[in-house]
Amino acid sequence: MKVKKLVRKEIQGLPFYDAESIFPERLDEEIVKLDLNENLIVSSDIVEKLLLKACQGVDARRYPPPHGATAVQAISKFFGFDESTIFVGNGSDEVLDLLMKTFVGKQTRVLVVEPTFPLYSYFIQLYGGEETPVMLRPDFGLDVDAILEKSGKEPSLLIVCSPNNPTANQFAKSDLKKVVREFNGLVVVDEAYADFAKYSTVDWTRETDNLIVLRTFSKAFGLAGIRLGFAVSNQSVIEYLKRVAHPFHVNIITQRVVALALQNLDYFKQQIDYIIGEREWLRNALVKIDGVIPYPSDANFILFKITKKGLSSSAVKEKLRSKNVFVKKKEYAPLLKNCMRVTVGTRNMNETFVSALKEVLEG
Ligand SMILES: Cc1ncc(COP(=O)(O)O)c(C=O)c1O
Repeated sequence: MKVKKLVRKEIQGLPFYDAESIFPERLDEEIVKLDLNENLIVSSDIVEKLLLKACQGVDARRYPPPHGATAVQAISKFFGFDESTIFVGNGSDEVLDLLMKTFVGKQTRVLVVEPTFPLYSYFIQLYGGEETPVMLRPDFGLDVDAILEKSGKEPSLLIVCSPNNPTANQFAKSDLKKVVREFNGLVVVDEAYADFAKYSTVDWTRETDNLIVLRTFSKAFGLAGIRLGFAVSNQSVIEYLKRVAHPFHVNIITQRVVALALQNLDYFKQQIDYIIGEREWLRNALVKIDGVIPYPSDANFILFKITKKGLSSSAVKEKLRSKNVFVKKKEYAPLLKNCMRVTVGTRNMNETFVSALKEVLEG
């Protein structure tokens, strides 16, 4: 039997979404893993303690609270939002998937501010939608006029990542506000990195009915492995998302860990401050290296361009890899030519990365 014949057309042409990383059981001193924007500043002991506490008294014979109710309650208390305005999923990846499943069908037009997180295009393709890319300005700013021009007569969907992955900048508040106000359709703002930035649009969801904000516990809280992301929007959007989601999709341990993490908010806030400090240290160190241009960052990573003649970002990536230093190559758009992305790590990791990069550039 030819399986391919039975596969949906959209999926036949779908690229394999490869995390392209290494996954050792435990990270030791040897491996400097700065490729997936994980938060390795948060203490693994503290995270383990939260997990153990979350497991206490769990009766796993039973289904978890439906629609992640325990996590929703904790998040709603934290933000002061009504529970009916919050939707949780297994990472913002799943929330994005369910959002697309809800709003994108064959030929739905979806505007995406590019270059950005490739998962948006992947889901649009998966559900048969039509992506209309709107490029960033050369300074990585939002091209408000181009977005509104392409907004069209029929309501559509717009996805904006702010701070943007991989450019790392958060868009000017006034630009984003204008876009949300004037766009003809739903605006999704992916704020996976907003905890490291200047502002959040979450509160804007109280005043408008066309905004969906995505947040995650993977970055600021260092809980990528437990998988919890959430959307904040108006009640109507959240109700549709719940129709599409399976009621028990978020497991009980994850729900409890999130509630416990929010009870320990001060600890996580301190780690965010540390990351912001390290980000500046790392950027200053990169500025001093000949053959590299780092861009400003509002996130827990930095985008930098390799400018040394004859040296490609692919070669740099491979050479760093051979020194057990893992970063990402990010040159999938003209604006990102010869660019790479490095996650902010501990001072030790950052120093190892900087000296390895210097060796590669000098070699
Ligand atoms: C912009 C952006 N959105 C969403 C995600 C996925 O986050 P999560 O771990 O919550 O699925 C990532 C992960 O790197 C990201 O960079």
